[in-house]
Amino acid sequence: MKKLTLGLGVAITLALTSGAMAQAYPARPVTMIVPFAAGGPTDIIARIVGDHMSKTLGQQIVIENVAGAGGTTGITRAMTATPDGYTIAMGHLGTFSAAPATYPGLKYDPLNGMQTIGLAGGTPILIVAKKNFPAKDLKEFVAAVKAAPDKFNEAHAGVGSVSWTTCTLLKGVLGVPKLNAVAYRGTGPALNDLVSGQIDFMCDQIVSVSEQIKADTIKAYAVASAERSPALPNVPTTKEAGLPDYQIEAWNGIAGPKGMPKEAVDKLVDALNKALNDEPTKKRLLDLGAVIPSAEERTPAGFQALIKRDADKLTPVLAAAPK
Ligand code: MLT
Repeated sequence: MKKLTLGLGVAITLALTSGAMAQAYPARPVTMIVPFAAGGPTDIIARIVGDHMSKTLGQQIVIENVAGAGGTTGITRAMTATPDGYTIAMGHLGTFSAAPATYPGLKYDPLNGMQTIGLAGGTPILIVAKKNFPAKDLKEFVAAVKAAPDKFNEAHAGVGSVSWTTCTLLKGVLGVPKLNAVAYRGTGPALNDLVSGQIDFMCDQIVSVSEQIKADTIKAYAVASAERSPALPNVPTTKEAGLPDYQIEAWNGIAGPKGMPKEAVDKLVDALNKALNDEPTKKRLLDLGAVIPSAEERTPAGFQALIKRDADKLTPVLAAAPK
């Protein structure tokens, strides 16, 4: 009888221990896949936000750069991983809202096959060019590109990326559907070539170009938002600069594969929220020009709604665009 009581006690202890272990998320580092090269906007946001999230989670968020196919290679890897909360991804307007319209055989479904966590940062879009581009303002840039579309090289981060998507919209507004385009594994490496003058221009997210604009190593013609960015107060909006129809806002946000445990989702949402409330983290993002997401956008449902809103907006335009 005594033996039986002891056996039962051990069994209960074991059950409680394994139950407690199963709940102790995260018990090991969490991989956050960045689907572009290091040093670009997605990588920058992931590292700034991931840094503080690691502190809250008590486990390191390890950034893994898996570039290719406009970001869809890395996002496919994340969305087909075991949904245990240990593989998540930092995606964006391109990979989550634009890619389904540009890749008919896409292996992930942002609207029905992902567990959204939340928006990590808004990233206004700038039209930037190499320092000696022969146009002093946006009107001259537009005139130059329209007059000789074959003369200039546009850099982007692959079909479906933010740079590709937003420059595709720009070309639609200009009525110049195709330019010479050079695809990179991210706009980080593209920016290096812009600074050295090997490519002519691109449409990029503010967080990776703001420092170069301030250092005067590249030119910024306009920001495609309704308001100027406080990080770059001297850069006019497209409306002010004479191209009011070119308006587009990009963003970066976190998601993982569908089926993640609720506890992991809740802890990641909480960690993201704490990162975005942390003053030094906020300052790092704001200094680069990012927009801090609202409370609603930081929730899985709020972020899901944003992905859908932009997919609905982009799909008809991108489906018809030359690839
Ligand atoms: C990057 O991190 O390189 C960008 O987000 C690429 C892009 O989508 O333009």
